[in-house]
Amino acid sequence: MTIIVAVISAACFVQLSFAVGTSGSHAHLFSNEVSNISFPNGFMWGYASAAYQVEGGWDADGKGESIWDYDAHNHANWFPAGQNGDVACDAYHKTEEDVGLLVHQGVNTYRFSIAWSRVLPTGRIDNINQAGIDYYKDLIKRLKENNIEPLVTMHHWDNPRAIEDDGGFLNASVFIPAFVDYATLLFEQFGDDVKWWITFNEPKQICGGGYDYGGFSPQTLSSGRGGYICAHNLLKAHAKVYRVYDEKYRTKQNGKISMVIDESWNEPASNSSADIEASERVNLMTYGWFAHPIVYGDYPEIMRTRIDKRSAQQGLSESRLPVFTEEEKSELKGSYDYLSVNMYTTVLAAATQDFPIDQISYGADISVNTYQPDDWERTAADWFRVVPWGARHLVRWIAQTYGDKKGIIVTENGYTDNGEVLDDLDTRGRFHKMYLSNLNDVIYKDGVNLIGYMAWSLMNDVEWYAGWLTNLGHYHVDFNSENRTRTAKASASYYKHIVTTNCLLDSCVPTTKKINL
Ligand SMILES: *[C@@H]1O[C@H](CO)[C@@H](O)[C@H](O)[C@H]1NC(C)=O
Ligand SMILES: *[C@@H]1O[C@H](CO)[C@@H](O)[C@H](O)[C@H]1NC(C)=O
Ligand SMILES: *[C@@H]1O[C@H](CO)[C@@H](O)[C@H](O)[C@H]1NC(C)=O
Ligand SMILES: *[C@@H]1O[C@H](CO)[C@@H](O)[C@H](O)[C@H]1NC(C)=O
Repeated sequence: MTIIVAVISAACFVQLSFAVGTSGSHAHLFSNEVSNISFPNGFMWGYASAAYQVEGGWDADGKGESIWDYDAHNHANWFPAGQNGDVACDAYHKTEEDVGLLVHQGVNTYRFSIAWSRVLPTGRIDNINQAGIDYYKDLIKRLKENNIEPLVTMHHWDNPRAIEDDGGFLNASVFIPAFVDYATLLFEQFGDDVKWWITFNEPKQICGGGYDYGGFSPQTLSSGRGGYICAHNLLKAHAKVYRVYDEKYRTKQNGKISMVIDESWNEPASNSSADIEASERVNLMTYGWFAHPIVYGDYPEIMRTRIDKRSAQQGLSESRLPVFTEEEKSELKGSYDYLSVNMYTTVLAAATQDFPIDQISYGADISVNTYQPDDWERTAADWFRVVPWGARHLVRWIAQTYGDKKGIIVTENGYTDNGEVLDDLDTRGRFHKMYLSNLNDVIYKDGVNLIGYMAWSLMNDVEWYAGWLTNLGHYHVDFNSENRTRTAKASASYYKHIVTTNCLLDSCVPTTKKINL
């Protein structure tokens, strides 16, 4: 999940004009009524995870170094002492046990990521690590044997270090072909069993946190430029992979591909037209930065106009936002088989004057004042307030802006605390209940084709540079034990109830509705 980077990205917007207010007229939107209508039949219920956060075995059996391994070993002070992914939850050695937990929980889907450097230690196709392939084959086989559908992320932030040495996402001529080769290998090796693919997880965090405003590896930062270049290359790589699947694998394997985009919902701070416009602008320049290209073939018009204009005013001969060729646009357009969103919180968006022109940054390109009222319920992370209604507004906006015919999946959602609380029914349990009640309203009151929900996460893990100081798991992990012992929290049994009954309460009104794939 995105805990740390979201701090950074939130900070990026708020640093110039942070405001603390009261929730005012938004207060009434908090509702404690929980929907008692069953979720649709066939709803995808699962957990999400990422390789670096759970696997460990960072150099086991021929795995190559990733950029996160590199940071853990060369910038140890960027992590809490000793809290990195070298061993993590040791999931690399606990496939049987962890699939057992998923079976116990009754989920029908498991979202996990493949570590690129585990199957291709240098990131290049000329050096395949069979032990890495075998590890994922075994995981997928055990999931399928238990009727758990794999939902597989190809890239959850962990570039092979060797790819980064050549510029990573900033180097199109290296990155794009290497990623296409890697994805093709995954289709070849796993595509008969994997029907749900994700190319990239949270591109805004990869590009903003990694190459623009900072907060995540590789921290090769260039404010107001690096993020856009990274995103441009990432989008082109995504589109190429999608087209390779169309050409060579779709008929035979019949799977679905998308990109996972994260978003904090930006609610208009008031009903003034200026605030409504500001809210729409920031939603388009965050979620839409990636959703617009894969749905419509290009960046949102507002993003093009604003960055072109500011670049010109800054005396630059070219826009800081790169331009797609016509061929790239047609490859991008429609390069998704479902939509998805990782969601945690909501902010209010208020109109403000454009930031001074000498500020070259992503935040200044957007120029909005975002904030969270003081009286919104806090979690262990500063930026993360509990705002259940935001979940409904966000998914409804995605459906209205990008369509829902192909289905929408919430690919991450969860509650953060210090990770040590086992009796978390009133915190984490209530969080899932209230967010899911709003998502249930999206389905039945707004008529949106929401088809699945992945809780973050099955177990406590390595939250990137935050180590395990904050965590979101339904299982506690004893990081002090060699065994990395997993212990169920109260939220685990509540989530099990939800996924096995389709119901948030003790009993629900049955439904004949089925998810529409
Ligand atoms: C990309 O990588 C290649 C191979 O290492 C190198 O020759 C080239 O200069 C790099 N380009 C950029 C933009 O970094
Ligand atoms: C905006 O208007 C709607 C509909 O009239 C109302 O429900 C909502 O509370 C208003 N929001 C604010 C922030 O005033
Ligand atoms: C290791 O963890 C497993 C699963 O949680 C547990 O059954 C086992 O007893 C643990 N072993 C030790 C030595 O703690
Ligand atoms: C569901 O909720 C409605 C309205 O709150 C209520 O009238 C109904 O009795 C409830 N049904 C069940 C089965 O809980």
